[in-house]
Amino acid sequence: MPPITQPPEPFAPEVRAEFGVDPDLIFLNHGSFGSVPRCVRAAQDAWRDRLERDPIELIGRRIQSLLGEVKVKLASRFGGAPSEYGFVTNATEGVNAVLRSMRFEPGDELLCTDHVYRAVRQAMRSRAGECGAVVRDVPVPLPTLDAEALLHAVLAGVSERTRLLVLDHVTSATATRFPVEALRAKLPPRCALLVDGAHAPGAMPLDVGAIGAEFYAANLHKWVMAPKGSAFLRVRADQAASTHPCVISHFFGEGFEPEFDWQGTRDFSAWLAVPAALDFTQALGVERVMRHNHQLACWAHELLVRGLGAQPATPLDGSCLTCMAVVQLPESLRRFEKVEHLQADLYARERIEVPIIDWGGRWWVRVSAAVHNMPWHYEALLKALQTRAAG
Ligand SMILES: Cc1ncc(COP(=O)(O)O)c(C=O)c1O
Repeated sequence: MPPITQPPEPFAPEVRAEFGVDPDLIFLNHGSFGSVPRCVRAAQDAWRDRLERDPIELIGRRIQSLLGEVKVKLASRFGGAPSEYGFVTNATEGVNAVLRSMRFEPGDELLCTDHVYRAVRQAMRSRAGECGAVVRDVPVPLPTLDAEALLHAVLAGVSERTRLLVLDHVTSATATRFPVEALRAKLPPRCALLVDGAHAPGAMPLDVGAIGAEFYAANLHKWVMAPKGSAFLRVRADQAASTHPCVISHFFGEGFEPEFDWQGTRDFSAWLAVPAALDFTQALGVERVMRHNHQLACWAHELLVRGLGAQPATPLDGSCLTCMAVVQLPESLRRFEKVEHLQADLYARERIEVPIIDWGGRWWVRVSAAVHNMPWHYEALLKALQTRAAG
């Protein structure tokens, strides 16, 4: 049965070509590492040229004010105050900075869900182990009815020992959007909230100030389409003095901004090129890009659910989706034995790049919907999966 919803009108060929994705590749995994438009790469190259032309002036004397200008732009797009933004190179680093800055006692509990990103759980385990604390996963079963059901499941896991809740805004393995907006007010004050927003900026309307979490870690290389190595940690003002970057350098103890702005000599070009990425979506229309991607993800979700005869993990209305979706795969595909084998087979035979995920004892395919994607990409994936499932 074909989907009832309609796919959005694709972006113009010259916009899609900006990404330089191999035309022979059906690239359905923007969600992992993103894809940077040429104009943003050019802006990063231009920054590298400027930095090399006059390194002491730009890095030695002006880097803090240059980064300050980027933070003003970030705050005007994603909320909060510019001074609350610290640059990190990826979301994992932001999470680690928070974990290392917090003090935990033996018996304390660090809570996440069973949808958590593995690298984040490992960082939690490492820090908990150092302090004699424990990490606990609260199960949030799929399928889910709605956002409210997700929230209830998370809150059911919070105990009086929970000192930190780490919650994905959008999960990686299950592409599910958690309603973090209402959460802070429902948590006891002794439990800090770290939102892992690796997949959130650029994927949905976002106001980190309104969420009110103590900590919000996010990537900019995914849905903002900024260079790899650009990410931020937003820290609520009352937590700023006690939050330190992973790399302790000259300005330790002198405040959140100087500490995060200077973590040793490094290539600052990825962070400095973030405004070029913000300008790219501004020119296309920020709302338009998010609407396109969401509509395409919802349509692809329905296409795959119906075409594979799967039970949807989240409602078909897309209320728990942003610009990715997962669909459970038919049992017959388990003859590939490992998810990596099926993923490699799709890449080798049809040149389809798409993650196959083993979560909750079931196999899933996760599709991303980005500016460079077209409806036929998902139809090709469906055909490839149907052929294998039948054979
Ligand atoms: C939910 C989630 N958290 C954290 C990360 C870590 O991102 P990075 O590898 O850029 O640190 C990812 C990466 O995809 C993710 O999906």
